Amino acid sequence: MFNKEAVLNSIKEYDSFYMYDQSTILEYSNQLKDNFEGIEFLYSNKTNPNPEVLKTVFGQGFGSDSASLNEVLMCKNAGLAKEKIYYSAPGKSFYDIREAMDISIITADSISEIHRIQQVAKEKGTVAKIGIRINPRFGFFKESGAASKFGIDEDVVYENKEMLKSLENVDIIGIHVHLSSQELDIDRLKTYYRNMFQLADRVKEELEIDLDFLNLGSGIGIAYEKKDSPLDVADLGKTASELVKEFKEKMPNTTVFIETGRYVVTKAGVYATKVLDRKTSYGKTYVILCNTLNGFVRPSIAKAIPTYSTEEHPKPWEPMFTSKDAFQYIPLTESTEMEKVTLVGNLCTSTDLIADDIEMPKLEYGDALVITNAGSYAAVVTPMQFASLNPPAQLFLTKQGEVINTLV
Ligand SMILES: Cc1ncc(COP(=O)(O)O)c(C=O)c1O
Repeated sequence: MFNKEAVLNSIKEYDSFYMYDQSTILEYSNQLKDNFEGIEFLYSNKTNPNPEVLKTVFGQGFGSDSASLNEVLMCKNAGLAKEKIYYSAPGKSFYDIREAMDISIITADSISEIHRIQQVAKEKGTVAKIGIRINPRFGFFKESGAASKFGIDEDVVYENKEMLKSLENVDIIGIHVHLSSQELDIDRLKTYYRNMFQLADRVKEELEIDLDFLNLGSGIGIAYEKKDSPLDVADLGKTASELVKEFKEKMPNTTVFIETGRYVVTKAGVYATKVLDRKTSYGKTYVILCNTLNGFVRPSIAKAIPTYSTEEHPKPWEPMFTSKDAFQYIPLTESTEMEKVTLVGNLCTSTDLIADDIEMPKLEYGDALVITNAGSYAAVVTPMQFASLNPPAQLFLTKQGEVINTLV
């Protein structure tokens, strides 16, 4: 699951670090490539924009699902062509649009944004070929659509079709939808894909356009907890491939994309933190670790949500919170002596806590504790400047076994 020897060697040098394993990234990206015929993948940079990770996924032929101008720029700098970078996010400024227009395919998130794109394209003397993000008439968990800050309501697209057709400097060439994350229910994903191909048919008919691309968004989930069954990617891919085949009979020139979301990187990353102290207070034993809340925040958030129940909250609070037991804590020690400990970090706040009174082998100063599922939404969503402590290193374990410190 992770390279213990590489972690043990690295903990001698770094008090806390992420380690991303290239072989696992390749394994998960190959699972997608091998099972989804006729579909292209866009890597969701926001899950982990580490430069070595980007090099690896782009080397697999993936394009980019970019969520900001900075992500667009990092893809360009990593060598991706304009046709491989899809920039979709709510709230783009004039500056974002101007800078992104020549180096990415912008996906407009509102009617007013389409007008801003028209204005910028006119200034540049060009015709911007764009996608539109649609908030469809269907939902992910129910048949009907719902209010959303993302995209343009499907009905609003159709109501504006004459205006959209009349824009001189904007050509709509594709559509994008993303409705849900971290889905482990295969039937829901299959129904969603079916709905998406029907949506493409409707949009083509209403707007009288040939779609260059149809972006189905993300949603393929990861088994975080020990009790989770991994999604059957072969089965999902088989259905998706059949749907694409049928769709291509009508629209042979449309590229169908799926965004990887967290799929290719979550399992590829671990977080390792060094024991900096231990103490017993009023009979309770604390192990003090380096950079927990301020190194990898999601375990602290999971701990801070005391009464989460899936009955009350069927969908978690992604990407900050997936479930109470989304991470495993693995002490790297030879000790066989078991003890009940509370795992805390070295910040001056008592909310810096990841586990309370759990049984584990005795950890001493200098030992490492490894936290799993740290490849996505980890370094990027963590408040690393808290207390001005040094942030964790980000190490990359190549498939040849070399450890690279990526951010120096
Ligand atoms: C448009 C879009 N694509 C991809 C993702 C990431 O997917 P996931 O949450 O499955 O990792 C998100 C996340 O919210 C998103 O909004």
